[in-house]
Amino acid sequence: MQTQLNITLPNAQYPIIIDSDQFDISDLRPWLKDKKVMVVTNEIVAPLYLADVLNLFEGHVVHSCVLKDGEQHKNSSSWLQILDALAVHRFNRSDVLVSLGGGIVCDMTGFAAASWMRGMSFIQMPTTLLSQIDASVGGKTGFNHPQGKNMIGAFHQPKAVIINAKTLATLPVREFNAGIGEAIKYAGINQPTFYAWLSENMHAIKAQNQKVLMELIASCCQFKTQLVEQDEKEQGVRALLNLGHTFGHAIETVSDYHYLHGEAVALGMVMAAELSANLRLCSADIRKMLENLLQAFDLPIMLDADYPAEVVLQRMKSDKKVINDHHRLILLKGMGQAFIAEGVNDHDILQAIKACTYSPPESA
Ligand SMILES: NC(=O)c1ccc[n+]([C@@H]2O[C@H](COP(=O)([O-])OP(=O)(O)OC[C@H]3O[C@@H](n4cnc5c(N)ncnc54)[C@H](O)[C@@H]3O)[C@@H](O)[C@H]2O)c1
Repeated sequence: MQTQLNITLPNAQYPIIIDSDQFDISDLRPWLKDKKVMVVTNEIVAPLYLADVLNLFEGHVVHSCVLKDGEQHKNSSSWLQILDALAVHRFNRSDVLVSLGGGIVCDMTGFAAASWMRGMSFIQMPTTLLSQIDASVGGKTGFNHPQGKNMIGAFHQPKAVIINAKTLATLPVREFNAGIGEAIKYAGINQPTFYAWLSENMHAIKAQNQKVLMELIASCCQFKTQLVEQDEKEQGVRALLNLGHTFGHAIETVSDYHYLHGEAVALGMVMAAELSANLRLCSADIRKMLENLLQAFDLPIMLDADYPAEVVLQRMKSDKKVINDHHRLILLKGMGQAFIAEGVNDHDILQAIKACTYSPPESA
């Protein structure tokens, strides 16, 4: 089973090939001719899929670079590790990098490609649900700075996104569910009927029914493509994809990545819905609707008491989306009616975070 989408931007056009049981690079063969290939992956994904992917590039000079796993390694050391490997094997601008892994490997490989010799080509081969439905599409690349998530980066579009949905079979359930957090985001942004689809297909998704998973991945890639095509560099409508993310990025860093990205986004969406209702932009039902779906996939809807709201708010102030100390948040007028809200005040944000945080246990 295979679906192909295309993304068309002012200076780039590329396919997103979604296959149910293989990485299909057949259409890329003519373009790949005579190129050296470096596959970047990590210590978890390498034993699972690296040999198969290296085989795909038989006949090419092919190398691999295996990074450490985890958000704490989405940093300059991993980036330099890729650049050092490119230097050792004398890669030049006409060669190609391939990412094989989740969103972290995709983002790091993309940024290495953006920065090596001022820009070389890369292909995304995402292997988590989150990276297949979001991170691999749209050309946002980068890594974390101690001050915040994804602070260092560039817009750099891949030459292709090659998805093998079968790789999800080895993904831990918690990681799979974290991916669903980003899928629910699309329902909140501008796809109200997708909320109903997710609710109706909940059991089939959890059971990883092949047909339903293929539809899920294709739909989300389509939703993201539509927004990226309108606004590649996030000057406007693409910012809607940040629903739940300003809260979420702060939660990830404050908790030292105790929460997975998709889990933090889930909490962030609940907070955005709470804040929207408090500002009388939407009814309280929207928070409830989001919570119902998030809970069905075992995603968190209340922040642990270990992370005080004041600390989360403070961290939100160092987000990329804060301009001149003014918060720029994605809020909701309804399910599928997200919009960019400028200048929301600290007090209102704090109240929303508190309303979505467990109370600390009473001291004896
Ligand atoms: N660039 C973008 O537009 C964009 C969008 C959303 C998220 N992101 C970024 O993506 C990252 C999160 O991505 P993620 O959720 O994929 O996390 P991840 O990359 O950490 O992958 C999750 C875990 O699953 C493992 N793994 C990957 N594929 C596997 C497989 N098939 N089988 C078994 N284990 C596997 C990984 O090694 C890791 O331990 C965050 O850093 C976030 O900032 C980027």
